[in-house]
Amino acid sequence: MSNRKILVTSALPYANGPIHLGHLVEYIQTDIWVRFQKMRGHQCHYVCADDTHGTPIMLRADREGITPEQLIAQVEQEHRADFDAFGVAFDHYHSTHSEENKTLSSLIYTRLRDGGHINSRSITQAYDPVKNMFLPDRFIKGDCPKCGAADQYGDNCEACGATYSPMELKNAVSAISGEKPIEKDSLHYFFNLGDFSDMLNDWTRAGHLQPEVSNKMAEWLQNGLQEWDISRDAPYFGFEIPDAPGKYFYVWLDAPIGYMASCKALCDKLGIDFDSYWNKNSTSELYHFIGKDIIYFHALFWPAMLHGADFRTPSAIFAHGFLTVNGEKMSKSRGTFIKARTYLDHLNPEYLRYYFAAKLSAGVDDIDLNFDDFTQRVNADLVGKVVNIGSRCSGFISKRFDGLLSGECVEPTLFQQFIDQHSDIANLYESREFGKAMREIMALADKANQYIDDKKPWLIAKEAGKELELQQVCSVGLNLFRLLVVYLKPVIPSLAANAEQFLNLPPQAWPGDAQPLLAHRINAFTPLMTRVEPEKIAAIVEASKENLQPTPQAAKRFDPIAKPIEIDDFAKIDLRIAKILNAEHVEGAEKLLHLTVDIGDETRSIFAGIKSAYAPEDLIGKLTVVVANLKPRKMRFGLSEGMVLAAGPGGKDIYVLSPDDGAVAGMRVK
Ligand code: 2FM
Ligand code: ZN
Repeated sequence: MSNRKILVTSALPYANGPIHLGHLVEYIQTDIWVRFQKMRGHQCHYVCADDTHGTPIMLRADREGITPEQLIAQVEQEHRADFDAFGVAFDHYHSTHSEENKTLSSLIYTRLRDGGHINSRSITQAYDPVKNMFLPDRFIKGDCPKCGAADQYGDNCEACGATYSPMELKNAVSAISGEKPIEKDSLHYFFNLGDFSDMLNDWTRAGHLQPEVSNKMAEWLQNGLQEWDISRDAPYFGFEIPDAPGKYFYVWLDAPIGYMASCKALCDKLGIDFDSYWNKNSTSELYHFIGKDIIYFHALFWPAMLHGADFRTPSAIFAHGFLTVNGEKMSKSRGTFIKARTYLDHLNPEYLRYYFAAKLSAGVDDIDLNFDDFTQRVNADLVGKVVNIGSRCSGFISKRFDGLLSGECVEPTLFQQFIDQHSDIANLYESREFGKAMREIMALADKANQYIDDKKPWLIAKEAGKELELQQVCSVGLNLFRLLVVYLKPVIPSLAANAEQFLNLPPQAWPGDAQPLLAHRINAFTPLMTRVEPEKIAAIVEASKENLQPTPQAAKRFDPIAKPIEIDDFAKIDLRIAKILNAEHVEGAEKLLHLTVDIGDETRSIFAGIKSAYAPEDLIGKLTVVVANLKPRKMRFGLSEGMVLAAGPGGKDIYVLSPDDGAVAGMRVK
């Protein structure tokens, strides 16, 4: 086995919020992979950092009456504590608000500029005249200029799929001050991504990306590459652009450079050579684990920036899908938006590490945390199959043989079968097919349990003169247990460390040529893991439920009363009582639910922007009011044949109208 030199990163979490279970999919996935590489004897380093710059962080510090520096210091502590508790073992954890990152960001920018890849020109943008700042698209809300849907973000409409510039929104307001934005010009700096289209065409097809990601990139590349706006105006929390006072690097410019900055700090700490990781001819491997939502930045901008600034490009980008909980998007009102800390207050972090491992593959599919499945799987596999072998066999060895294993392995073939699986299991870990690896390991655990069940040491123990056989059978069991634990060690490192302690072994490497432990003395067995108690999960969900009160601003800001109309105008609107027969999520839509409603003599299919406030199952069977004679509208996800009436500013605060008792579907509302 050659000794590889590997640098691994996970995406840098924003310093404006806590780590939650959605984040942990990635950190756990990466950590398992890194631990595996280390066990294989490779020189593998895992670096990360807080992503500290940008408008949301600046505004949150503002709201809390502290400086951004204070905010990011506080959040960094929380992040570190959460990662630590989940066993996510970075070799270095840094911050993008660091000297290393400032120096490297300037260097990369300067090289790109000197290479002719940076342009500047004046652009017009929405500006908050009260806050005196330019407004990022997501801080502007208003009505869609195409279909009129309310409460849309500044760049695209969830209802009709239109894209537009924030200045085109109707009744636009700043989400910060509530004020109507004005237009203002300012000089911006752009990175000419188009200069790299040949390079990216090659790079995205050269095996650095998962096949499905590579295909997606081909589509994007076909549509042509836009220049990328990399500057922001003051006030902004970030790094000032070296030759442009008052202009700051956009957070996404310096964020990935944070990978390098963290590596630089690690190299300084360990006295190793930074350039050997990053120079153009580097032979070390570089892997970025990321979520599928930030592929564009990592598979296009980042390689282009690195290449343009004369650095090496990544060996591979490993994207994963999102986490759903019980089959749905994590939801604060349902209590499924679970913070790392809330989980830790109730449950063993290694349950989750194992569960995620069992669900993960090398693809970009979403993974689901189903609480019943979680309980069942952890209890059946880890407690029932693995830990159980240790506890079943160790009692006799401790009590009857003073902790001494037999001097001979009586099942060399069985032991060898376990060893022979090592390269299959290693290949699955290497290729990030953790779910398959877990299944192989559990199949071995079944074999070990089968052996114990066949031999029945609890019966042997009762027979006189069978002392040696008892010792031999239990020793086989413990030798198999040891191999299972080693195979699981990247996933459940703390259980593995406790098992090593109990087996009286030094930290175990990957068992390519492990021999059975013979005449070896073990320590007393200590419980390694207890069963998942469903009440604990209920407590987590309860503690995660947020009763989202409308913000005072949102509550007070009512639309002005519309112009008077004639009674005939009103009579044109045919409002009907409707019964919701079915409600379901719409693949790819952030705000919409697809409803099937009965309006008396017909059923209609309606897309309603109420997903943020309602779970589909809570709507089915309910009566509501719909506009029945609205011309069908073609939406991105299908034809909508009516409109459900609802009130409220948006988000959690949407309230579907329902009639008083006695009304039935089809009645006209007058
Ligand atoms: O999407 C995010 O959460 C970003 N903070 C990820 C940054 S990854 C890297 F590029 F820094
Ligand atoms: Zn629209």
